[in-house]
Amino acid sequence: MRKPFICGNWKMNKTLAEALAFVNEVMPRTAAIEKIDVGIAAPFVQLAGLAPLCRKAKIRLGGQDCYWKESGAFTGEISAPMLRDVGCQFVIIGHSERRQFFGDSDEWVNQKVAAARKAELDVILCVGETREQREKGVTNQIVVGQIQGGLKNMAIEQLANIVVAYEPVWAIGTGLTATPAQAQDVHKVIRNEIARLYNDDAANSMRILYGGSVDPNNVKELMAQEDIDGALVGGASLVTQKFLALCSYND
Ligand code: PGA
Repeated sequence: MRKPFICGNWKMNKTLAEALAFVNEVMPRTAAIEKIDVGIAAPFVQLAGLAPLCRKAKIRLGGQDCYWKESGAFTGEISAPMLRDVGCQFVIIGHSERRQFFGDSDEWVNQKVAAARKAELDVILCVGETREQREKGVTNQIVVGQIQGGLKNMAIEQLANIVVAYEPVWAIGTGLTATPAQAQDVHKVIRNEIARLYNDDAANSMRILYGGSVDPNNVKELMAQEDIDGALVGGASLVTQKFLALCSYND
């Protein structure tokens, strides 16, 4: 009942020409996919150019972050209404690289989630522990804290448009994937927390994606876990053949 969602996160990669060539190449296959949602979060400067192609390719298009103000003197920032205006359907918020390198706190993440929903963008809210936190045995507390912080004051009606991505920081771009069982454990903790904060229906219908070195070789086993509803994929989503293999994990 939860439709799987495979989403590429291109991070700071590709020129516009490369991005357009990518979507043109995958389009014949992605346009025919019905059973899963497919998305790409591209760099800001590619979004306007990609939007018409992505519509044809049935690829949901997203930004990788947004600022919480709608407009104004915030040099270098991009607002949620601006993303919506150029044809985005969603935005990633709270990615660990934003938290680590750019200072995004739970409070900022929360304001960004609210701004995105106000602009009618769907949200992929990222959470995940660092290696030290896992070694200290505080993974669940960290992830639960990020869920509580990110969703603070969020009305239950908003949850249908919010997806959570669990991405252990130690597994991102490192080739180290959480084992399917490790990922499933944390996904369950997240779903239980949504049930506690809201209710069982909201928890059972929320999609929770796994991210961290997902590739065509491990996607099937991850997706077989009860509480894993999709994948947020960095490195492997940059290569057309790997992206298509991920999108057809179920064939
Ligand atoms: P990775 O990145 O697939 O390259 O590990 C995932 C992410 O950061 O979203």
